[in-house]
Amino acid sequence: MKKTVPGKFTGASFDDFKNELLNKRAIETIIQWANDFPTDFTKKAYPSIYIFSGVNGVGKTHLAAATINELANRDKDKDWGSWGYHFETITSIKNAVKESQKPISKTSTQSIYDELTAKRLLVLDDVGKDFHNEYQKAFITEMYYQIINGCYEKNRSLLFTSNIPFDTPYAAGGETLRDLIGEDCMDRLREMTEGKVIELKGESRRLI
Ligand SMILES: Nc1ncnc2c1ncn2[C@@H]1O[C@H](COP(=O)(O)OP(=O)(O)OP(=O)(O)O)[C@@H](O)[C@H]1O
Ligand SMILES: [Mg+2]
Repeated sequence: MKKTVPGKFTGASFDDFKNELLNKRAIETIIQWANDFPTDFTKKAYPSIYIFSGVNGVGKTHLAAATINELANRDKDKDWGSWGYHFETITSIKNAVKESQKPISKTSTQSIYDELTAKRLLVLDDVGKDFHNEYQKAFITEMYYQIINGCYEKNRSLLFTSNIPFDTPYAAGGETLRDLIGEDCMDRLREMTEGKVIELKGESRRLI
């Protein structure tokens, strides 16, 4: 898996992010969350954060990458070793887990989950973009459980980006995170996020 931010976002920062009125509070919350991220080992987990938007291109991946870039820069003199940051899209995790389950695979599935939960901050980009049918549902639920419960047990922090709302649907019958990951994971996430669920609004910046 990739571990680092996508090439397009290697230079992403909070400074080059336009803070429009519409998203002012949401963006300030994310920047504050990143700034307050502990510089030293703490026994208590730092709260996780869920960033979602109903529209594409409003800057979720940019902000997630900027968080890692800013923290890595801030902590560059610290000897974190493996105790650092990990950025991954959900689709690449899904593909890696699937590969590991093939009989010829030399990588165990457990080693993938161990790697993902080894760092103090795991950024999961594009949660919910893992298209699946009913037949694959058990696989997806198990994957999220392994990641979320692993982070929960090891006091790791998660930063999610997603186009689906946390637990209140946009419209009656609409999909939420709960539908995707199941109640076992939601229950852990409610404790982990401590209510840090952020929505970005507006139009796609890709059109501007
Ligand atoms: N507020 C902003 N200021 C400056 N650039 C922005 C802002 N929001 C988004 N962008 C830029 O717009 C493009 C799309 O942003 P990004 O990929 O982060 O969107 P996204 O919310 O992750 O979209 P998707 O839901 O499709 O994954 C990127 O080039 C990003 O740098
Ligand atoms: Mg994105």
